[in-house]
Amino acid sequence: MKNLQIKVAVITGAASGFGRELAIACAGEGMSLALTDIDEKNLQGTVELLPPGTPVLAMKCDVAKADQVEQLAVATYERFGASHLLFNNAGVLVGGPLWTATTQDWEWMLGINVMGVAHGIRSFVPRMLQQKDECHIVNTSSVAGLLSVPGGGIYCATKHAVVTMSECLDQELRAEQASIGVSVLCPAFVPTGIADAARNRPAELGEANPLNAGFEEQTRKATQAGKISASDIARITLDAVKEGRFYILPHQKIKGAIETRMRDILDERSPTRTAP
Ligand SMILES: NC(=O)c1ccc[n+]([C@@H]2O[C@H](COP(=O)([O-])OP(=O)(O)OC[C@H]3O[C@@H](n4cnc5c(N)ncnc54)[C@H](O)[C@@H]3O)[C@@H](O)[C@H]2O)c1
Repeated sequence: MKNLQIKVAVITGAASGFGRELAIACAGEGMSLALTDIDEKNLQGTVELLPPGTPVLAMKCDVAKADQVEQLAVATYERFGASHLLFNNAGVLVGGPLWTATTQDWEWMLGINVMGVAHGIRSFVPRMLQQKDECHIVNTSSVAGLLSVPGGGIYCATKHAVVTMSECLDQELRAEQASIGVSVLCPAFVPTGIADAARNRPAELGEANPLNAGFEEQTRKATQAGKISASDIARITLDAVKEGRFYILPHQKIKGAIETRMRDILDERSPTRTAP
């Protein structure tokens, strides 16, 4: 999708981090925006950062809830009559050894990181297919979708799911000869709010296991030390959309670890330890 001007971008998790920067970058391309997040206050903060006059629909939505994502699609088509670029971006993280994870930890992360993407695909792809315009979907995974990181068991499980869902979706759409491109975004550590994801954890899912505070602190340090910024990620992602590139790996140095994992599999040897 070379020309983004006057097209409509839908961005989940738009109140912070990548989502906020994608909104700013898409507005800079002259796009109309449907922005959503569970955090209404900071979503409004994103709207205030957009160039004046940007057509924007900002709507609270929990991506883990199918009916709320469907309402987002209905509202987007009511307001703009179309959607062209969908970023299934909202995501959360809680860590620690798998045997310390609670069922609520699983429910929370699977609900947002996996089902959030599934709901986005279910609500928007059929509408995009009917539209017959050129469209594109970007699913935010992570290098955790290509690696197995100790302490990140649930997160890796969800992000691996997003990689394979994207790979399947891309092949399915090409088999249909649909004019809908797909990309999967797989960054390493970037300074955003991800280490403090628990700030938006629903009360009914209880607090994160305190045993996992060490992992959270490690993630905070690693993301804060990230050299590539969220706005760099947004720029790299839009470039990939324009080039029609499927895999987006903004951190080149991590490719060595991915290659090692692939080699471990092909050589049928035990996983090489990946630094968290
Ligand atoms: N920052 C990193 O180092 C990094 C690296 C790889 C992948 N990612 C992925 O990037 C994506 C964006 O995260 P980020 O780093 O910008 O973090 P962030 O915490 O800054 O932003 C995530 C946004 O998602 C929103 N969100 C949380 N639960 C939601 C829900 N149920 N419904 C709707 N929105 C919800 C949050 O309110 C927040 O605004 C995530 O999928 C994350 O897993 C981040």
